[in-house]
Amino acid sequence: MSETVLLVGGGGREHAIARSLADSPADLYACAGNRNPGIVALADGFEALDTTNPKAVTTYAREVDATLAVIGPEAALAAGVADALDDAGIYTFGPQEQEARIETDKAFQRRFMREHDIPGCPDFETFEDMDAACEHIDEYDGDLAVKPAGLTGGKGVRVIGDQCTAQEAKEYLRSSDYDRVVLEERLVGEEFTVQAFVANGQLRVTPAVQDHKRAYEGDEGPNTGGMGSYSDASLHLPFMSEDDYMDAVDVLRATVDALEGYKGVLYGQFMLTETGPRVVEFNARFGDPEAMNTLPVLNTDFLDVLTAARDEEPLPQLSFRPMATVCKYAVPDGYPTDPDAGAKVTIDDGVIAEVVADHRDQSDDAETAPEALLFYASVDDREDGIYTTTSRSYAVVGLAETIADAEAIAEASLQRAGTEGLRVRHDIGKTDLVQQRIDHMDDIRCSAD
Ligand code: AMP
Ligand code: GLY
Repeated sequence: MSETVLLVGGGGREHAIARSLADSPADLYACAGNRNPGIVALADGFEALDTTNPKAVTTYAREVDATLAVIGPEAALAAGVADALDDAGIYTFGPQEQEARIETDKAFQRRFMREHDIPGCPDFETFEDMDAACEHIDEYDGDLAVKPAGLTGGKGVRVIGDQCTAQEAKEYLRSSDYDRVVLEERLVGEEFTVQAFVANGQLRVTPAVQDHKRAYEGDEGPNTGGMGSYSDASLHLPFMSEDDYMDAVDVLRATVDALEGYKGVLYGQFMLTETGPRVVEFNARFGDPEAMNTLPVLNTDFLDVLTAARDEEPLPQLSFRPMATVCKYAVPDGYPTDPDAGAKVTIDDGVIAEVVADHRDQSDDAETAPEALLFYASVDDREDGIYTTTSRSYAVVGLAETIADAEAIAEASLQRAGTEGLRVRHDIGKTDLVQQRIDHMDDIRCSAD
């Protein structure tokens, strides 16, 4: 049977998904609120629509005779788009609204971990009354992370002792209109992500990635959706051991066992602490930017994972190219607090091929030959050009045998593609910053001894 896949979402993550399906024997259709030029170029058809409207997505899916669907963004999952597509008989790789609460309701997520004895859960309490939450901050012995229970695009959390003082956290709570918050033990260490494909109780894991949430270089400034990320040629990262990676996988496995019936990507955000990996959060989808690190090194056909999931067959064992990746986002000036939306940007993706030519050697093995990729993100392709929205604009990814070489390719790509009116964290993946991560973990381990 020939397959028709509907991809929901229009960011960098979805461009990476579209790219990974582009060579598969399937027709690809896409829908999103913005016209992402990268996705439009790869898809057989595209419809601009509100991806949080289950009816609109289902109508389009029926129109194109979709046999499968993949949902990128959490807002669509929270709105029940997977439920509606499944009800319409279109198998959707993405959890239904109830299962997506593992991401969309942080209070539910922590209670779920406690109830099912899932390892790595921080000490936490949930509050509906903000005055009671403020009292808890005063009484708690230690620093707390203050987390609104609902979705905030990664921008709602305030960590006392890191991003703010206890006084500022209380002012934040009192001036907010949150109806529920989670206050939890502040975890100290290095963060990393492990994403897994999940269906029919099985999971297949992908290499660890480290994202950079803070807006400015040196990990300063407000939290963002993620400014860029890197992965190594192995499954783990330079500041962690293979055992740390396996401990994180054990947490994901325990979570999948407890979730029952979950399908889609399960994304674990971990803090590697002095006692090993602890859970910062789960997401019910690929990470953005992390999908742009993971999918380009995946040798296995993503379509085979999707059809096996739908047909209740064993998921294929995944194989990855042994390459490091560095991804850097170019974001509108002022992002995330006051983004310059609606600005015209010039992005020249045609020059990316030149970067590859500069970095390749005749002797390069095809599996590990350097590569440069450009993924469009939340930009809108209009008749007279490409415009910024309030979110991230485009990303470049360098692939090479080492993180340092991948970083150099990402930088060269940014220079050629152009960043006028956009901002980049150039420090991501640079040797100095990676070394700081290693030193940080060494310090944490030493002080624990
Ligand atoms: P989240 O929306 O839960 O991913 O949180 C956003 C960011 O806040 C995380 O990536 C961490 O950097 C930070 N964070 C969240 N929870 C904690 C915690 N318990 N301890 C320390 N930092 C945290
Ligand atoms: N990179 C963080 C996220 O996708 O939530």
